[in-house]
Amino acid sequence: MKIFNLSMECYPVAKVGGLADVVGALPKYLNKIEGVEASVIMPWYNKPFVHNHEFEVVFDGRIHQSVHMFQVQVMKEKSQSLGFDLYLVKIPGLLDRDNPYGYWDESQQFLAFQHGVLHWLSAMQIRPDILHCHDYHTGLVPFMIENCPEFNFLKGVKTIGTIHNGEYQGQMRWDMANYMPWFYGEQWGLLDWAGYINPLATMIKCCHAFNAVSDGYMHELFQSFRGLESLVQQEGAKAYGIINGIDTEVWDPKTDAFLDFNFTKENAFEGKRKNKKSLCEEYGLNPELPLFSFIGRFAGEKGADLLPEIVRKSIQETNGSLNIIILGSGEKYIENHLAELSSTFSNFALDLGYKEHLSHKIYASSDFLLMPSRVEPCGLNQMYAMRYGTVPIVRYIGGLRDTVEDISTGGSGINFGSATANDTVAAMHRALHIYHEPGLMEKLVQSNMNFNFSWENSAQKYLELYKR
Ligand code: ADP
Ligand code: GLC
Repeated sequence: MKIFNLSMECYPVAKVGGLADVVGALPKYLNKIEGVEASVIMPWYNKPFVHNHEFEVVFDGRIHQSVHMFQVQVMKEKSQSLGFDLYLVKIPGLLDRDNPYGYWDESQQFLAFQHGVLHWLSAMQIRPDILHCHDYHTGLVPFMIENCPEFNFLKGVKTIGTIHNGEYQGQMRWDMANYMPWFYGEQWGLLDWAGYINPLATMIKCCHAFNAVSDGYMHELFQSFRGLESLVQQEGAKAYGIINGIDTEVWDPKTDAFLDFNFTKENAFEGKRKNKKSLCEEYGLNPELPLFSFIGRFAGEKGADLLPEIVRKSIQETNGSLNIIILGSGEKYIENHLAELSSTFSNFALDLGYKEHLSHKIYASSDFLLMPSRVEPCGLNQMYAMRYGTVPIVRYIGGLRDTVEDISTGGSGINFGSATANDTVAAMHRALHIYHEPGLMEKLVQSNMNFNFSWENSAQKYLELYKR
């Protein structure tokens, strides 16, 4: 079975968040199953990975967008070191950028990617069994292969759409239809939602099956989906929930090259203590205190706007008997507020930016990881934390609810109810009790490390869906 994953991100080529981790791992684990051949197709970016690897040009063609003509080159990575074939689509002017997102013309950029991929596959007569589209950026593909005569060769190819984040739907004004490959005009209704072209809605309407990245989140989408509730209800028969896995080869405390001290389940308590000591020394924190951390995008979904209040309140209410470290970037007002607090409180360290190596160190060194998310389709941080023996403190929602059980009901994490600073800090007080209870932390470190979130299980679920 031949599967092409279409995505804007893929670890380690280009990563903004969890989408990259998923697309960099799922095909690798699928390829371990006999008879499966999974690859990744993504845009070309001006990134170190691209410059440090060799590629061969496998296609060179042209596409038209409105009155403009663009060159499309497809490059295949030569070494296959990722565990899957990697194809990069380069379109000078649109797909040759530094980063996946954040450009004023990104609707046109995403359209060009989808158009370029389908043009290449049709021209070279490459017909996969499954086109697996990730998020709205590739959501028009299921429509295009059925309704654009240019891609007739691909008609009937089965499509799966994965919703990593329903908050982003890619709405664009109808005049952007000029930038689409020519389509049968009478099918416009498949593109429309509430007067806009809505690529995520189109994906749900046109794909053969769609899934959210956890069961919990799929259930939530039926109730609350930024205006698409009735659509998901109507198309409910093809809706699935498949929880993400983690790449346990990349995320392994035993071999992780980013850690100061590697450790296994057997010496985890000691190993974590040593990592914590060196991290705390680096950031001027007292290593004897319990360490709470947050890693992520400073966005409303992640509850990042609550962080300043969480920091202030928790340090004041405990008279400074805990440490907090935050790694992330995003909304400027949150960055500024946190920066102010880090110069006020010696128990609080802040590192602004995106730092892959530091994230590994923090997962390994922390006692507790905070996730006060408002929306969390799956969440990978809690799984990385658990793999590194850290106790997750999570809001009971979406994928967090599916992966972290509270200690009071036999789990080894902490759940709390609402995305407020009060609830989060109350959960931190619970955490401190646990921390000071003799022997309990050792037990929790162990039981968290015993969880198996490997992709093997979830890859099997995707395969079942492809077969269906
Ligand atoms: P999302 O994709 O919504 O941001 P996930 O929990 O699925 O959330 O995945 C986030 C991924 O991005 C994890 O691999 C996490 O470690 C990583 N990450 C987030 N922010 C940073 C950062 N500032 N530096 C390094 N890694 C980060
Ligand atoms: C999105 C979601 C996150 C999920 C990730 C990978 O970014 O916000 O919860 O883990 O996609 O599926």
